[in-house]
Amino acid sequence: MKKIEEIQQLVKSHLASLDWRIEPCGLYEPIEYVLSLGGKRIRPVLALLSCQLFDENIEKAIYPALGIEVFHNFTLLHDDVMDKADMRRGNPTVHKKWNENTAILSGDAMSFKAYELLAKCDPSVFKSIFDAFTETSLDVFEGQQYDMEFETRNDVTIPEYIEMIRLKTAVLLAGSLKIGALCGGASERDADLIYKYGIGIGLAFQIKDDLLDVYGDEKKFGKAIGGDINCNKKTFLLITALEKSDAASKASLMDWISREKFDRTEKVKAVTAIYDKLDVRTNAESAMRAYYEDALNALRQISVAEELKQPLYDLANNLLYRED
Ligand code: IPE
Ligand code: IPE
Ligand code: MG
Ligand code: MG
Ligand code: MG
Repeated sequence: MKKIEEIQQLVKSHLASLDWRIEPCGLYEPIEYVLSLGGKRIRPVLALLSCQLFDENIEKAIYPALGIEVFHNFTLLHDDVMDKADMRRGNPTVHKKWNENTAILSGDAMSFKAYELLAKCDPSVFKSIFDAFTETSLDVFEGQQYDMEFETRNDVTIPEYIEMIRLKTAVLLAGSLKIGALCGGASERDADLIYKYGIGIGLAFQIKDDLLDVYGDEKKFGKAIGGDINCNKKTFLLITALEKSDAASKASLMDWISREKFDRTEKVKAVTAIYDKLDVRTNAESAMRAYYEDALNALRQISVAEELKQPLYDLANNLLYRED
């Protein structure tokens, strides 16, 4: 059985062996750039760990795993344009380093490259993987659409928020696990359970991302702190703050949300102070833990030996304490 670190190394070396030095450079250089900046590689690692539960030959899942990571990086190029984000993985985003058209077109190329990589799987699993991947991708776009629509709404509820992050984030983690399981020959029941585990860790993962966006260390997180506050993103923190606040805090929050011109640092500081006063951080952390528990419950039910599942227990636990 391979350890998480070995699998991370495997993903890293395979990603590095992809050749992007082709013409036109304007299209492929930004792809090589974003992929060279690292990232946690959580999705391909999940795919390979999931495959390993059912088959020790994890090479079977390597190309689909790479395809998923390229797809994820494509969504980041477009997400950073949509979120007006200047920093990613501690470096300028593609649309800042080049321009928005570059982020759009290089992103488009990556989405098709993702399919090309995915299709290098064993032909016997191609159809099921292809369908799972297409469904997952459409879910991500639906989630991203809700995320944007929510920016201009102030009555978003926690259930609506959960559905939005299930789509924009959790399904890709869940889909990676399911695709890995399919490559490893899992039963339908086990593939569904690993998907459930993925939804649980994925929801916890996005709530953690919302927390880090406010309370993280910019150097470790690699993204500008307060990006969500700046865009009026309806995060777990903001929705809870709007729900929990007294008249004065609510008026102040609504004032910051409605301002068209503001100093970014000042807004982030003021909104964070309201979050602190209402202690919404504790609400977010307990929601995150509840989804983590749901994930473990699903993992326990998978019909393979418990010791084989250990890396997936560890990985879920690490996500609760991540700083990047
Ligand atoms: C960022 O994903 C987008 C979210 C779903 C929060 P990651 O946090 O996995 O980013 P990298 O790939 O490690 O940089
Ligand atoms: C990202 O959500 C979801 C996707 C990229 C599909 P965020 O917008 O919160 O991700 P970051 O914080 O920019 O990485
Ligand atoms: Mg973003
Ligand atoms: Mg976004
Ligand atoms: Mg975020």
